[in-house]
Amino acid sequence: MDKVTIGVLGAGRGASLAKAMRYAPSAELVALCDVSEDRLAAAVAATGVQRTYSSYEAMLDSDVDAVAVASPMPLHVDHSVQALRAGKHVLSEVTAATSMDQCWELLETVRSAGRKYMLAENYCWFRPWAVVMGMVRAGLFGEPYYGESEQLQEFKGGLPPLEDGYTWRTAELAMRRGHQYITHDLGPLYEAFGERIKTVVCMGSGQRHVPWARADSTSTLLLETTGGRLIRLRVDFFSDRPDNYTYYGLQGTGAAYEGPRAATEEHRIYVHGQTAPGTWESLWNYDEYLPDEWKTLPAEAVNDSYDGGAPLMIEAFARCILDDTRPPVDVVDALNMTAPGLLSEVSRDRGGQPVDVPEFKL
Ligand SMILES: NC(=O)c1ccc[n+]([C@@H]2O[C@H](COP(=O)([O-])OP(=O)(O)OC[C@H]3O[C@@H](n4cnc5c(N)ncnc54)[C@H](O)[C@@H]3O)[C@@H](O)[C@H]2O)c1
Repeated sequence: MDKVTIGVLGAGRGASLAKAMRYAPSAELVALCDVSEDRLAAAVAATGVQRTYSSYEAMLDSDVDAVAVASPMPLHVDHSVQALRAGKHVLSEVTAATSMDQCWELLETVRSAGRKYMLAENYCWFRPWAVVMGMVRAGLFGEPYYGESEQLQEFKGGLPPLEDGYTWRTAELAMRRGHQYITHDLGPLYEAFGERIKTVVCMGSGQRHVPWARADSTSTLLLETTGGRLIRLRVDFFSDRPDNYTYYGLQGTGAAYEGPRAATEEHRIYVHGQTAPGTWESLWNYDEYLPDEWKTLPAEAVNDSYDGGAPLMIEAFARCILDDTRPPVDVVDALNMTAPGLLSEVSRDRGGQPVDVPEFKL
């Protein structure tokens, strides 16, 4: 086998994953599946793939090596478990699970299936962050000990009420407290610290915009890692303000990084002993730390959007199957990135009490 054949479930976000596959040389998009004919037709037009399924079971019965699960968030575990039991490798969209019971079910299934499972946390392949991670690995940050991230994305209109177009998004993002979309924020920081979250604390502002919503307009999480490092996250799908959902900050003993807070700002870095004291430099002064994999992408595929690294993520998924290596975001990483968000709801409901996050082991 020199390529991994992939069938994509869900032709919404799944269509974007399918399009990114054309730049992943070890992956081959062979099929798309959706119950919606209109969505399938649009995805076929965008990707050129001819093989389509309206039944997921039929796609799992076919000869595809792997499936990309891009169905609604509460169905990720059901669809991943079904695929693993059918002998398929799984690339799952975020988040990994929407309940703690689902987390344990997924772990148990991956453990017994003997197939690869990877979380498609595309923000871990965000190009500016790839430079930061290159610098972390090269030791320029010394010991990273504090990280922060924010998902500020005014999305009230995408969260319709029960009587008018209610979807999984309303259920997960408007009717639940805490951070239910946590992996985009936590994933890259988890990668930088290389250790799991031990304790989560969450407090919220109250809901100030949508009277029937249970989620807070804005929530803040404090996370402590097993090694005593600190992370602060903010999530906000409601406030009227400019969006910013790719903001990260990282503080180490050797360097500090801050992403742009607005379109007029740049990615900035301070390297102790190198940058003039009290000033910032452009992160791009350090682009020699960008991993070599970025140089393999054709120029038209390189972009610095949140999804710009999707081809590299898909290539990494295909390579871990072909080389029989550990997926870069395996099931334990996926659950370590997901469970703190699920448990942030418990902390919020208990008035901000610290909640322990269990250890997931393969
Ligand atoms: N990583 C990212 O940047 C990113 C961006 C957008 C969405 N997402 C994630 O991707 C997932 C999908 O998001 P979306 O916006 O496309 O959601 P969506 O609800 O718009 O689309 C889901 C699609 O799945 C199809 N579907 C559901 N169950 C099915 C089944 N059993 N068989 C066949 N088709 C089925 C639906 O018909 C629908 O077209 C979500 O979990 C979301 O969190 C990730």
